[in-house]
Amino acid sequence: MTISKLRFHGLLPISLKSCILNFLFSSVVCVGGDGSASEVAHALLLRAQKNAGKETESILTPVRAQLPLGLIPAGSTNVLAHSLHGIPHVVTATLHIIMGHVQPVDVCTFSTTGKLLRFGFSAMFGFGGRTLALAEKHRWMSPNQRRDFAVMKALAKLKPEDCEISFLPLISSHDLEERKAEGSPKSDCNDQWQTIQGQFLNVSIMAIPCLCSVAPRGLAPNTRLNNGSMALIIARNTSRPEFIKHLKRYAGVKNQFNFPFVETYTVGEVKVRPRNNSGYSLEEDGLHAAASENSFPWNVDGDLMEAKSEVQVKLHPRLINLYGGSTEEMNDSQGTCNCL
Ligand SMILES: *[C@@H]1O[C@H](CO)[C@@H](O)[C@H](O)[C@H]1NC(C)=O
Ligand SMILES: *[C@@H]1O[C@H](CO)[C@@H](O)[C@H](O)[C@H]1NC(C)=O
Ligand SMILES: *[C@@H]1O[C@H](CO)[C@@H](O)[C@H](O)[C@H]1NC(C)=O
Ligand SMILES: *[C@@H]1O[C@H](CO)[C@@H](O)[C@H](O)[C@H]1NC(C)=O
Ligand SMILES: *[C@@H]1O[C@H](CO)[C@@H](O)[C@H](O)[C@H]1NC(C)=O
Repeated sequence: MTISKLRFHGLLPISLKSCILNFLFSSVVCVGGDGSASEVAHALLLRAQKNAGKETESILTPVRAQLPLGLIPAGSTNVLAHSLHGIPHVVTATLHIIMGHVQPVDVCTFSTTGKLLRFGFSAMFGFGGRTLALAEKHRWMSPNQRRDFAVMKALAKLKPEDCEISFLPLISSHDLEERKAEGSPKSDCNDQWQTIQGQFLNVSIMAIPCLCSVAPRGLAPNTRLNNGSMALIIARNTSRPEFIKHLKRYAGVKNQFNFPFVETYTVGEVKVRPRNNSGYSLEEDGLHAAASENSFPWNVDGDLMEAKSEVQVKLHPRLINLYGGSTEEMNDSQGTCNCL
């Protein structure tokens, strides 16, 4: 089944719903960009919970999606397809689907006050969220135009968010071995929440590497599609030129996060709690209401998600099957055999 360029805001078309219900199809293929891809994945996962008789309001341990999902990149941003196939290439994606190359992929749940907001693969809070919120207010521009415009405007108004970030660090098997070798007594003690507070410009929480044209190795090169961890990348407050230098560094292949104000963690769960409404002043835009309602924009797979309070992001390993080549085979040997 092919869904062409769908933008169904929260509402799944009847046809897709009944297909999934009746199991008439063995898989779902989405032709579109990140927004559509993420919404179809969300719908498939929600359906799986309902079929399993699970409460969908507050999901602690979701069940896996029953149908595999194929993504054919055709949107203005194709980060998901790019990360899956190693390249945002329609023919490559189609061949993987035809040949039935399926791989399990990690998914996050986003919830607030115990309620599920949605499923997703990657999120940005702070600059990344503000930029998307600005772009959404200028939908009359072309996608590229409004993205550039929003980035410029968000940079001009760059201001940190005052928040508290708690996270559950994961110790990779590699680190664990190293620590055992060193005979560290605390080697197995990784069940501890850590909390950091302060002024943050930009926070990324990503379950997949998020490859894209401006970041050929990914916005989160330090994670994999399905190794059971998320990358938490934090840019603390700094000057505008330093922040821009950090954003530009994504285009390179080395030392992306080698800045004193950038921290990276490998985590299984994150909670982000804005402390004061000290973020951007939206008054110039005549949005007093939004400002006083204390709403914070998140960018979840390119979709705007507004949250009023703490957002909890939890990783669920290998929750959905997606068509794609194993990107491990295409590591650093740039460009060779990326197109099958
Ligand atoms: C910050 O924002 C940019 C653009 O919105 C994004 O590409 C980047 O991955 C974000 N994350 C960090 C930690 O800077
Ligand atoms: C997942 O892979 C990344 C990159 O190789 C690594 O840094 C991270 O520790 C891994 N996660 C786990 C839980 O092993
Ligand atoms: C953030 O950093 C800039 C530049 O160093 C500084 O001027 C500004 O006051 C800082 N903002 C906060 C809220 O700390
Ligand atoms: C932010 O909130 C804390 C307490 O939650 C308070 O001490 C601090 O003064 C507030 N800062 C601003 C800028 O309002
Ligand atoms: C990819 O990485 C693995 C180990 O990380 C290595 O054995 C393999 O040779 C690499 N493949 C390529 C094509 O570089």
